[in-house]
Amino acid sequence: MNSFVPQNRADNDGVSRETPAGAYGDLLDVSRETEADSVASQASVSRETWGAAHAVAPETPLAQMAHAAMADRGQDTPWPRPKSCRIISVANQKGGVGKTTTTVNIAAALAMHGQRVLVVDLDPQGNASTALGMERDNQTRSIYHCLVEDEEIRKLAQPVPDIPNLWCAPATIDLAGAEIELVSLVAREARLKRAFAAYDTSDLDYILIDCPPSLGLLTVNAMVACDEVMIPIQCEYYALEGLGQLLRNVELVKSHLNTGLSISTILLTMYDGRTRLSQQVADEVRSHFGDLVLRTLVPRSVRVSEAPSYAQSVMTYDPSSTGAMAYLEAAREIAHRA
Ligand SMILES: Nc1ncnc2c1ncn2[C@@H]1O[C@H](COP(=O)(O)OP(=O)(O)OP(=O)(O)O)[C@@H](O)[C@H]1O
Ligand SMILES: [Mg+2]
Repeated sequence: MNSFVPQNRADNDGVSRETPAGAYGDLLDVSRETEADSVASQASVSRETWGAAHAVAPETPLAQMAHAAMADRGQDTPWPRPKSCRIISVANQKGGVGKTTTTVNIAAALAMHGQRVLVVDLDPQGNASTALGMERDNQTRSIYHCLVEDEEIRKLAQPVPDIPNLWCAPATIDLAGAEIELVSLVAREARLKRAFAAYDTSDLDYILIDCPPSLGLLTVNAMVACDEVMIPIQCEYYALEGLGQLLRNVELVKSHLNTGLSISTILLTMYDGRTRLSQQVADEVRSHFGDLVLRTLVPRSVRVSEAPSYAQSVMTYDPSSTGAMAYLEAAREIAHRA
């Protein structure tokens, strides 16, 4: 039941990169709606009240209109599938920058466009598992058992409800002790790599690993097991603080443990078009990292922050929202960079 067999090739109803308005046109579209979203986020409305009042089911007329609008823009070319499974760690030791949100929504967007995707939740907080609707109890076998007890990933990965082609290897609270338990294990930095090597990834197109906000052994395991690192950067003051340490760690892992490792992607998150600060951070990141930075910016959006409380990605919670559209665009860019 958990085998990584494509169940349902999704329609190729995505958005072409070659839109007439170009990436920055999209950016402007996104930032225009950001204002409303941001204002809403500042309102002191309880999550339940706000969520209940604004929940939009995937098949609402609004969502259908959004999909129709995308189709009108001539954006229904199929997304290319990688020759072999791309393993991408989503990492930044700074907390709350959008790692989990990015992992979950990029994974959902890829899966909704026919890619077969596994999310590995490597954060003891288990936020990605929650956002993907993973049922967990004391008996749940999780990525902890894979790292510490050599459990097979295939056995613990669960299909994500309502999103064909998407699976999640969940995290449970046991993982909080893993950093310490791993220290005494053989090949402690390569436990996840071994787990990936132990099963056939040829059925998968992507594995996305949601890293915790630290540079400890869990994150090192992710970096040893992957080919690419994706770094979400929040468009806020101090956004670049600590980035040097992250880059040095990537270099260290590359030179000692995984020569194939590279930083492939930087994604600017929580962009607020009303502030000069967001624009300044975006400009600074682009001037440092050039083409590594995706053209798509993810706006600050209430819908994005609401979705996890409904155990959903924003891609299913409100596919017509600015946040969902931005993650769709970002996923398209990633798919075309294969
Ligand atoms: N584009 C966005 N608009 C509004 N809120 C967002 C957006 N992206 C993320 N958030 C919210 O910001 C908070 C932090 O996001 P997220 O959990 O993805 O960050 P993280 O880097 O994974 O955090 P941690 O370091 O704790 O793992 C969450 O409450 C999330 O809902
Ligand atoms: Mg997280």
